[in-house]
Amino acid sequence: MPLSDIDEVIVTNSLTKVYPGGVRAVDGLDLSVRRGEIFGLLGPNGAGKTTTAGMLTTRVIPTSGEALVGGIDVVRHPTAAKQVIGVVPQTNTLDRALSVSENLYFHGRYFGMNKSTARAETSRLLDQFRLADRADVVVDSLSGGMAQRLMVARAIMHRPAILFLDEPTAGLDPQSRIALWDILGELHVDGQTILLTTHYMEEADALCNRVAIIDHGKLLALDTPRQLKQSVGIDAMVTVTAAGDLDQLATVLGESISAATSVEAVDGHVRVWVRQLSGVLPAIIEAAERNGFAVSDLSSTEPTLETVFISLTGKELRE
Ligand SMILES: Nc1ncnc2c1ncn2[C@@H]1O[C@H](COP(=O)(O)OP(=O)(O)OP(=O)(O)O)[C@@H](O)[C@H]1O
Ligand SMILES: [Mg+2]
Repeated sequence: MPLSDIDEVIVTNSLTKVYPGGVRAVDGLDLSVRRGEIFGLLGPNGAGKTTTAGMLTTRVIPTSGEALVGGIDVVRHPTAAKQVIGVVPQTNTLDRALSVSENLYFHGRYFGMNKSTARAETSRLLDQFRLADRADVVVDSLSGGMAQRLMVARAIMHRPAILFLDEPTAGLDPQSRIALWDILGELHVDGQTILLTTHYMEEADALCNRVAIIDHGKLLALDTPRQLKQSVGIDAMVTVTAAGDLDQLATVLGESISAATSVEAVDGHVRVWVRQLSGVLPAIIEAAERNGFAVSDLSSTEPTLETVFISLTGKELRE
């Protein structure tokens, strides 16, 4: 079947990797990514994100199960699979002996472009990725954000059907992170299928059409960020600041706020997770004051993917 007819461009069936020594890094993973999606693999350090991306991009041999990119089995046909994917690995793999433009040019030549096409594509990508003024410098002199943009430019130069990015914004300053998000957004608008791994929940939330949350190599949940956040059954987390015995305030609020699903005293505040926010804020102030607490501040935030992760695993995404 031609690639353009395939709708599920990444498929894994019971995909498993056990490293020598016995670490079960990926454990029976079933995924399916649709054409044109930005799909996020979200999980904490050691969850198995890089190993999953590694198997899908032919760098890691699966122990069992199946992985298909563009309908091609990556174990049986690794060379064909490599033609349909572009990869931005977790570490900088630019060729330090080459200039910025040469890193692109020789990638194009390696993928079979003739000299004039490779030259034209190099200059087009340098413009698109705002690197034209750096064309002739050595890659060592690029900032982290520029190096990352060059890695993305190189990864899409042979026009792969699927782009893989492993922790694309790790270590970037906020401005470079936003610049890279913009570029990924533009590629998405052009129809590029993108799979990225991240442990930044805001990144997964902001960029991805759908997110798979994984931990210990297992899929915990897979849905749109919106659905995932709704699935925890919480409307908001209310943070109450007050003077006095906060454990006692937590008990008071737990007993008097009927919409509360859990209440805890942490870091000089009381956190109240509520099913329904409507009417809760005045009720908190009233219950606190009735019991002798003066509330000095009150704020509410909507659930995040972090909330989802905590509700699935009982632990936080960051270590
Ligand atoms: N080559 C290897 N040999 C043995 N164990 C490995 C190897 N690579 C990874 N692991 C182990 O497999 C598990 C998953 O690692 P992996 O790198 O896939 O996680 P990750 O989600 O990408 O983590 P990070 O967020 O730190 O990049 C970890 O326990 C890791 O120590
Ligand atoms: Mg990793």
